[in-house]
Amino acid sequence: MKLTPLTPTVFAAVSFVLTLCAACPALAVDPQPLYTQSLAATCANCHGTQGKGVADASVPRLAGLKAEYVEAQMKAFKSGERPATIMHQLAKGYSEEQIRLLAQYFASQTP
Ligand code: HEC
Repeated sequence: MKLTPLTPTVFAAVSFVLTLCAACPALAVDPQPLYTQSLAATCANCHGTQGKGVADASVPRLAGLKAEYVEAQMKAFKSGERPATIMHQLAKGYSEEQIRLLAQYFASQTP
């Protein structure tokens, strides 16, 4: 097989594409918000979508609560300091970092 040398036009086209790809990492999507939303979705069954609460349910609304408050409650559930019907079991499944992300997420939602 005989290789043909790059013509100036082909060379220019290849250079152009390579230049575009240099910007590719900057176009990558930040996965953090999606991760946080997925974590928060595990609370939606009981606390409503985005923690906005469920009508006629006795489960408290989380949207708009202060982040420090949510974080403190989750830690209190986890340690058993705050008695609960279900939250003391659920809270044990979340790391300190995940609890911090959840607390910030619900604090930033409008009730
Ligand atoms: C199975 C239903 C259920 C799920 C799922 C659930 N919760 Fe709860 N949550 C409750 C109930 C019920 C209470 C009231 C305390 C209790 O009895 O456990 C509560 C209370 C709370 C409170 C205290 C609110 C206050 O006003 O003091 C916080 C904070 C909380 N939940 C956070 C979360 C977070 C964060 C998640 C997701 C990781 C979550 N909950 C998932 C049922 C649930």
